[in-house]
Amino acid sequence: MKKVQQHYDEVADIYDNRYDGNRGRYYHGHISDHVMREIPKGGFLLDLGCGTGLFVQRYVDDGGQAVGLDISPGMVRHGRQRCPGSGFCVGTADVLPFKDATFDALASLLAFSYVPDPEGMLRECFRVLKPGGRIAVCTLSRTVFTSIAPIVYQMGEKVGLKKVGVGDFDEHYYTNAEIAELFKAAGFESVSVSRCSFAHLNLADPVFNLARKVEPFVEEKLPYLAYNVCAGGKKPED
Ligand SMILES: C[S@@+](CC[C@H](N)C(=O)[O-])C[C@H]1O[C@@H](n2cnc3c(N)ncnc32)[C@H](O)[C@@H]1O
Repeated sequence: MKKVQQHYDEVADIYDNRYDGNRGRYYHGHISDHVMREIPKGGFLLDLGCGTGLFVQRYVDDGGQAVGLDISPGMVRHGRQRCPGSGFCVGTADVLPFKDATFDALASLLAFSYVPDPEGMLRECFRVLKPGGRIAVCTLSRTVFTSIAPIVYQMGEKVGLKKVGVGDFDEHYYTNAEIAELFKAAGFESVSVSRCSFAHLNLADPVFNLARKVEPFVEEKLPYLAYNVCAGGKKPED
């Protein structure tokens, strides 16, 4: 866990560069759209693994209030700068410093795969959600591409290419069935799982543009080719 924190502290100052360009903005916006569809707008949100506060800002811009939590103090510092009106804290997503039934919505984007105790994290999410509150988690999914990505990245690092932080932290690539099972075991109902993202920001422009065009088709008809999995669920009403 220290390794992940150290990595994100190291890249915190440059993390947003990847989402500044057109491809990055589209990629993150697309994931955020999927997450927004699963949670209530205009409520009180907790974003776990919030990074530099990109999704906190999105939720607040849509009329809500939000708190972000992240294990990296460097990322949290950027979140505070981006959203001075929101609360941020440093901590791990599987031990939450909040009272029971505090939030209307829980979100986590591109962070769940790093959490060493996913059962613990979802148990904590369930606890801090109000009855009837909703959760959405979007994270790395197991595909043909993501299964070999860590090996490719590790080979790249061996020949001196820039460290990108993939395949280095025992991150887990989830199947739909695995994540659905975890949600149900934590007590969530109305669990839904879908795949998202085919136009990855690391693709070169012409390939990215093509991938973006076929993305809706891939997500619906060839979901096993999409890079991320998005799971939603509801805490039962009392
Ligand atoms: C790929 S970044 C995603 C950041 C942000 N959610 C976004 O969409 O830009 C992954 C984030 O998860 C955080 N993280 C990793 N393990 C964590 C843990 N156990 N608890 C809280 N945050 C964690 C990292 O520090 C990093 O900021």
